[in-house]
Amino acid sequence: MTTSSSSDGFYAELTNAEGGALRYAVNGAWRASSSDATVESVNPSRANARANAFQACTRAEVDEAFAGARAAQGPWARTPLHERASLLHRAATLMRENAGGMVSALMIEVAKGAKESATEVERGDLLMSDSFPGNDRNKICMASNVPVGVVLCIPPFNYPVNLCVSKVAPALIAGNAVVVKPPTQGCTATLHMIHCFIKAGFPPGLIQAVTGRGGEIGDYLTTHPLVNAISFTGGETGIRVAQKAGMVALQTELGGKDACIVLPDADLELAAKSIVKGGFSYSGQRCTAVKIVAVFEEVADELIGKVNERIAKLSVGLPEDDATITAVVSKSSADFIQSLVVDAESKGATLCQEWKREDNLIWPLLIDNVTHDMKICWEEPFGPVLPVVRVKNENEALELVNKSRFGLQGCVFTRDIDRAIRLSDAMQTGTVQINGPPARGPDHFPFQGVKDSGIGSQGITNSIKVMTKVKSTVINLAKPSYTIA
Ligand code: NAP
Ligand code: G3H
Repeated sequence: MTTSSSSDGFYAELTNAEGGALRYAVNGAWRASSSDATVESVNPSRANARANAFQACTRAEVDEAFAGARAAQGPWARTPLHERASLLHRAATLMRENAGGMVSALMIEVAKGAKESATEVERGDLLMSDSFPGNDRNKICMASNVPVGVVLCIPPFNYPVNLCVSKVAPALIAGNAVVVKPPTQGCTATLHMIHCFIKAGFPPGLIQAVTGRGGEIGDYLTTHPLVNAISFTGGETGIRVAQKAGMVALQTELGGKDACIVLPDADLELAAKSIVKGGFSYSGQRCTAVKIVAVFEEVADELIGKVNERIAKLSVGLPEDDATITAVVSKSSADFIQSLVVDAESKGATLCQEWKREDNLIWPLLIDNVTHDMKICWEEPFGPVLPVVRVKNENEALELVNKSRFGLQGCVFTRDIDRAIRLSDAMQTGTVQINGPPARGPDHFPFQGVKDSGIGSQGITNSIKVMTKVKSTVINLAKPSYTIA
């Protein structure tokens, strides 16, 4: 079955390419690739039937996109900040006015529930500016933040709008040009978002979008000589991107194994609510999903009872019906999740619900009595299955967090703030939430991982720092300024 989300007239320019494939954006225009080849996205809720097709851009087209971006960037950097900001506001308005196409594309291509899809588009609306400091007595240093040049933005499938605009907006406001490589699943929504930016009136070339499968054009893009910064969000691929990237600024936001530590004095109702929201919203396909629970033995039964009550109430079904649990993004992802469950069960874990799967749709599952020898204790399932490890003390909980190769976020539930802070200090993660589930937002908060969870920090101000360089001009005075009494 072929499904299209692009009936909206606003998007006609990018959707009417020959063969029905969406066009790619270069120098302010939407074009078909000379490759005559396409890549396809699938509909995870419809047995992975074809959803849309996109241009498989050639290397020459990638070169043209970078050259155009480079040419547009110089004049853009000299455009007054308030003018840059006003165009971003215009793009945000167009995104809001034309959200329908993006929302339906998100439901079709990444099976995100109706309300969460709408939220993702709405939270794409963000703006920020920067500033400059500096002076001295006998040397006067004028320091300012200057754009790095061309920023390559690569978002993942699970937030193809928000995690794209959260790269594009800081890059542009800081005076950069961007080349976006959308994820194949979710590509339609990303292209719709780019269209809003182009329609807002940004100079041609400033915002380019080249499409194609990451495995085919990814290396060419990330090692391109005209790239000055890479902002990448995704999984293992990001580690390889970082290894190959040359002398460019790098922001990689990668996978996580966010642990939820529940202490004996915790508000167990709050902890259970947060675990279910954190672990199962969007079927667990969030980098910041709760991916393991470490609960103290004395409250484990009570907590697990409360979590199971809430899991029983989760809706399972289609994104358009706004189900919380929808199909995971691909068959290979569903197969991987299943393999983790099979491994855990074979090693003695307890499945709190019946294992159930239809195509990509996996019913929510809590797995109790997980031990360190099970793969699910360390791997990121990226699906609606959540392991629970019963711990005797803080050291056992910390061991789970700190032995992980990931270090994105974690959370601690306790009424003892001193204890929470002590644990937070000892947890090797980019962020610790106290009495709340892991989350990246609000979008202007700093957001970062350590170890295999990434390099650099996000959040609007931090992204601007990665995407700018400090430029100093020093005035050397003939005499120190303090010689005048
Ligand atoms: P992914 O497979 O790593 O893909 C991410 C992006 O990289 C996609 O646009 C993909 O394009 C592209 N890509 C693939 N190969 C490439 C290459 N060789 N060079 C450059 N780009 C390449 O990740 P995903 O499956 O989309 O997302 C899920 C993962 O992202 C999870 O691990 C999740 O935890 C992580 N994530 C992290 C954060 C965070 O902020 N820390 C946020 C969201 C998600 P194609 O789609 O065309 O392959
Ligand atoms: O998938 C990773 C996202 O960055 C998670 O964002 O915590 O706002 O859902 P969120």
